[in-house]
Amino acid sequence: MCGIVGIIGDEAAAPLLLDALKRLEYRGYDSAGIATVDEAGALARCRASGKLRNLERRLGAEPLTGTTGIGHTRWATHGAPTEDNAHPHTADGVAVVHNGIIENFRALRTMLAANGATFHSETDTETIAHLLAQHLARGEDVKTALLNTLGALEGAYALAFAFAGRPDLLAAARVGSPLAIGLAEDCVMIGSDAIALAPFCDEIIYLEDGDLALVGRDGVSIYDRNGEIQSRPAMPVPMEVSVAEKGNFRHFMAKEIHEQPEVLTHTLSHYIDAASGELRADNVPIDFASVRRVSITACGTAYYAGLVARYWFESLAGLPVDLDVASEFRYRSQVLAPDELALFVSQSGETADTLACLRKCKEAGQQLAAVVNVRTSTMAREAGIVLPTLAGVEIGVASTKAFVCQLATLAAVALKAGVDRGTISPDRARTLVGELLEAPRLVAEAIRLEAVLQRTARRIAPATTALYIGRGPSFAIALEGALKLKELSYIHAEGYAAGELKHGPIALVDDNVPVIVVVPHDEFFAKTVSNMEEVAARGGRIIALTDRAGAAALGDALEEVVVMPDAPAFIAPIVSAVPMQLIAYHTAVLNGTDVDQPRNLAKSVTVE
Ligand code: G6P
Repeated sequence: MCGIVGIIGDEAAAPLLLDALKRLEYRGYDSAGIATVDEAGALARCRASGKLRNLERRLGAEPLTGTTGIGHTRWATHGAPTEDNAHPHTADGVAVVHNGIIENFRALRTMLAANGATFHSETDTETIAHLLAQHLARGEDVKTALLNTLGALEGAYALAFAFAGRPDLLAAARVGSPLAIGLAEDCVMIGSDAIALAPFCDEIIYLEDGDLALVGRDGVSIYDRNGEIQSRPAMPVPMEVSVAEKGNFRHFMAKEIHEQPEVLTHTLSHYIDAASGELRADNVPIDFASVRRVSITACGTAYYAGLVARYWFESLAGLPVDLDVASEFRYRSQVLAPDELALFVSQSGETADTLACLRKCKEAGQQLAAVVNVRTSTMAREAGIVLPTLAGVEIGVASTKAFVCQLATLAAVALKAGVDRGTISPDRARTLVGELLEAPRLVAEAIRLEAVLQRTARRIAPATTALYIGRGPSFAIALEGALKLKELSYIHAEGYAAGELKHGPIALVDDNVPVIVVVPHDEFFAKTVSNMEEVAARGGRIIALTDRAGAAALGDALEEVVVMPDAPAFIAPIVSAVPMQLIAYHTAVLNGTDVDQPRNLAKSVTVE
């Protein structure tokens, strides 16, 4: 989603802004732009549709001077990804870049046009530039004009501003969308996240909702909505974000798939003391004995982690679980009782819909826990309880290592729930903990199937439709597999409960449609095999992912059987997630799509 950078220092701003924007490319975008203010106070901008290299080429031909400036990568919401709609937007000496959506922009635009503003784009953002310009034209000082402008905006935003005639000043503000200030010896920066700021800054200040920051060469003053000065702590730049590099891998996604055994070990060590085999109960500060129901809310891949967790909470802890995608949960009139645990799963901790649900549950007085990968994120700060996944920075838009770490975390939490509620005996708990500790090794074994899965990808790459099916927790993994394939390779893919196939999607089956079946030799095996027979009878091309016992039972009648590592049923979903990732990755590579930044997608979805 849109990336924001800003800098005020003593070196030429444009090349630094471009470098910082490159570090935000992973968020997904379709146009970009930069505006600078030179020493004489002249404001100039350069914008281009498409990738940053287009902007870079433009800047090469028409360089921007000045040591103060703002930059942006835009993920289109209002208006196509054209140069005219690219940020920064300007009006009478004001330039602004924006991440988020201004919901009342039509009313503002009408009002501003009536006051004489002429619009040059279809964006909601341009209204902010005109609004601020009109306040300044009335003689308001910058801070007052900004506060009045922000007060008129409805919706979510992270904003950075530059001003003609003021090479000594930038401004930044946020409601809903994240924004940070980076401090260095010779400059002050603004950035959407620590990743953009890391190589340039020593310390970072995370702005809070409602903050307005006035940024000068020597530092920053932060105000709340009423203009009262606020103090926000400066934190050291997290080490892990500075090393967000591809290493020897062709794509971040490949690197992140291969990191999974290691980051799973890190995550598990937070929840389990490997030496004693005991759960670290202190790191899951929830008394499940007094919880009557759990609701799990998330988006995208994180939602599928929640779907697996539902099976775990039900089978291990006998807990009723409501599961919803956040965009639906936030507008349902559901009963939110105080004795329920509201669990939110999010890699970024910033996804707008999930965050809105968290706030809804907070308002209802529920106990909140957030499974997040970014510990400085808004969700981590606003949830009472943080259950971190220690996956490290994830750059590939398609979530991989964060997903398996979400699963590992949720497995440990479900075990704790079972222990608290007495639904699993201490002996059984110890066995299951032991199984969970095997996950990194088994995931490493699954990664070693890469060459086999590359061949599978060759079969899938020419298809225009693929189906993924499974039962029980493997149903969730089938859904995740289909999501991965469609988002990376743009092949239409549907995940389905194996037993539900005959109620519709089996109509799609012919000998061009690969049907990927996640079928470990578990309690659902025989049922899923029956569903496979139904597909085979209609000429479907089955690719079965199973384990050794499953492969033996299936025999050699099928077109393709991939033998996954033998995993205990409890942790099988963690292991079978890996072939889903590798199939999608290699299919995308074969089809030549942009693996790390698939078209139209964003890493951190900070708009509704
Ligand atoms: C986007 C990403 C997905 C991710 C989803 C939820 O759609 O492309 O990979 O699963 O957002 O993001 P979150 O940060 O809340 O896990």
